[in-house]
Amino acid sequence: MIILDGKKTSSDIKVEIAESVKQLKIQGKKTPHLAAILVGTDGASMTYVTSKVKACELVGFNSTLIELPEETSEEKLLNEIEKLNNNNDIDGFIVQLPLPKHIDEQKVVEAVNPTKDVDGFHPTNVGRMALDLPCFLPATPYGILELLERYQVETQGKHVVVIGRSHIVGRPMSILMSQKRKAGDATVTIAHSRTKNLKELTLQADIIVAALGIPEFLTGDMVKQGVTIIDVGITRVGDATKKSGYRLAGDVHFESVSPKSAFITPVPGGVGPMTIAMLLKNTLLACELKV
Ligand code: GUN
Repeated sequence: MIILDGKKTSSDIKVEIAESVKQLKIQGKKTPHLAAILVGTDGASMTYVTSKVKACELVGFNSTLIELPEETSEEKLLNEIEKLNNNNDIDGFIVQLPLPKHIDEQKVVEAVNPTKDVDGFHPTNVGRMALDLPCFLPATPYGILELLERYQVETQGKHVVVIGRSHIVGRPMSILMSQKRKAGDATVTIAHSRTKNLKELTLQADIIVAALGIPEFLTGDMVKQGVTIIDVGITRVGDATKKSGYRLAGDVHFESVSPKSAFITPVPGGVGPMTIAMLLKNTLLACELKV
């Protein structure tokens, strides 16, 4: 069993990005600048955004964090987005999701200029991705592709079962794995909450991407020997033995699944850190493309 170490791989990628930033600076070119908008005080979102801003500092990017109160109106948020769209110093920006219920998430996603949409969530980028055209790939699926590539996990002709059809992970992952690309060229099944006989499917899978958000859902009896497991889940589960009062649980029951796995991502330290590294990579790309 080989651990797909997202922590180490993301560190390697950040070193590569830092080197590119150094070169940009030597050549007198612009320093990449990422902005993030956070609405409200959701604990997990605050943690993610803080990690993204810290990662910018580490690789030599400029960063701007815009924190807005929970009760911010949709109009005010759209106004902030427009300011970032028009600010030439900002190469890319993200609006951390989920948003408070009174804000229309789709409207917000569509307000971001696609050339600055380093999350790859805008319909223009999603459409371009589906058509194999150059675009910003959503960071989590992009990070998974990068992990599979760097660990040389064979995907061509393999059966990939993606569990979960979210716009951020499951849906794009299913499209990307079916495309002709290094980590891709696979036969893909996308399963979700209405799928019948899920276990029949997962038992046939060479690669499983678990992205449904139910802690420890995938158990050892549901997978075949030699499977590759990508665990996208990261749920806070109450744990009185921890100082924080919680632990992070993946969608995979690691103890029973890992002994049957050829490759497996841990939680934490698997997909999570890769997401941040690929967001930085998209921001570097946005900066380099904006001449
Ligand atoms: N919420 C969970 N994942 C993400 C992400 O990749 N980007 C943004 N903006 N919000 C998220």
